Amino acid sequence: MANSAAITGVCGYVPPYILNNDELANMVATSDEWIQSRTGIQERRILKGKGLGTSDMAVEAVKGLLSKRELLPQDIDLLICATVTPDMQFPATANIICHKLGIQNTPSFDVSAACSGFLYALNTANAFIRSGIYQKIIVVGADTMSTIIDYEDRATCVLFGDGAGAILLEGKEEGIGIIDCILKSDGSGAQYLHQKAGGSLKPASQATVLAKEHYVFQDGRSVYRFAVQNMAAIVLEIMEKNQLTSEDVDWLVPHQANKRIIDATGKRAGISPDKVMLNIHKYGNTTAATIPLCLWEWESKLQKGNNLILTAFGGGFTWGAIYLKWAY
Ligand code: ACO
Repeated sequence: MANSAAITGVCGYVPPYILNNDELANMVATSDEWIQSRTGIQERRILKGKGLGTSDMAVEAVKGLLSKRELLPQDIDLLICATVTPDMQFPATANIICHKLGIQNTPSFDVSAACSGFLYALNTANAFIRSGIYQKIIVVGADTMSTIIDYEDRATCVLFGDGAGAILLEGKEEGIGIIDCILKSDGSGAQYLHQKAGGSLKPASQATVLAKEHYVFQDGRSVYRFAVQNMAAIVLEIMEKNQLTSEDVDWLVPHQANKRIIDATGKRAGISPDKVMLNIHKYGNTTAATIPLCLWEWESKLQKGNNLILTAFGGGFTWGAIYLKWAY
């Protein structure tokens, strides 16, 4: 049995097409000034091309990860994909990713926890490593939010983008890797953030499509209130539980939904802005991909033993925090 589970590699992928605020301002009644001041977003990436879905972005991220770590498809024991925009309702996008990469006869499944999906999937992988069931696990967070966004709704279309990020999790000596994890959920939050139709409760029909019920519905103001409160509270909770002062934290890795939520979380935790990973201006909210995309972009700055706190809040509601010591 492994004493600890640690991230030993990371890779990301964002599609090449850039949708900037000015282009959005030609589509809906908004402005670059409004979007930047309310959200911190300047541009986002959009997956374009016939026949492409979430698995295709995930494949690029996982392919990069395998190549970086000089691993073969048969070296992987389990692949978990966090997504709310699967290629299809079933089979799991994780199954499709494995097939496209030649990862054969390997267990794989999806985790659905919206913006907290990557944290939920990472902690699931953590349990599998620590129990000794699997040795090498890939966790990929990938979302093609552009496929469930109404580009006539200015309240949501400015927020989201597409992308994928993947990490490798392996056993390590005690004291390095994932130290602690707190995950929470509250299904009463579903009323504020959901997709009205397309599930068993209200199957897709001509009427639901005409009513645009297959798109993201969000009561932004309520979600904002819950997000600010709970993301800060869970970061403080995990710091307190592990006797960490704000000086002990080398990096805060927050889900990128809104720069104002991130700033408020960092401020309440007493973590200075230069220690907070922030790339929302380039990618917007890529849901399950935001945290691994941050790790990918900051990888060269991270040092072995650095204290990282990963945190997210999103649909469900789901939220959480993971405290880990960087392993390389
Ligand atoms: N451009 C211009 N005006 C706009 C836009 C826009 N793109 N969008 C909304 N407005 C208008 C509204 O219509 C409203 O006008 P009104 O006062 O005349 O009615 C006004 O701006 C204020 O609207 P609010 O919704 O109160 O704006 P707010 O300052 O709250 O910002 C935002 C909206 C950015 C969506 C914010 O509420 C937010 O970030 N919410 C949280 C998002 C989040 O964290 N989601 C969770 C993750 S997503 C997931 O899990 C899948």
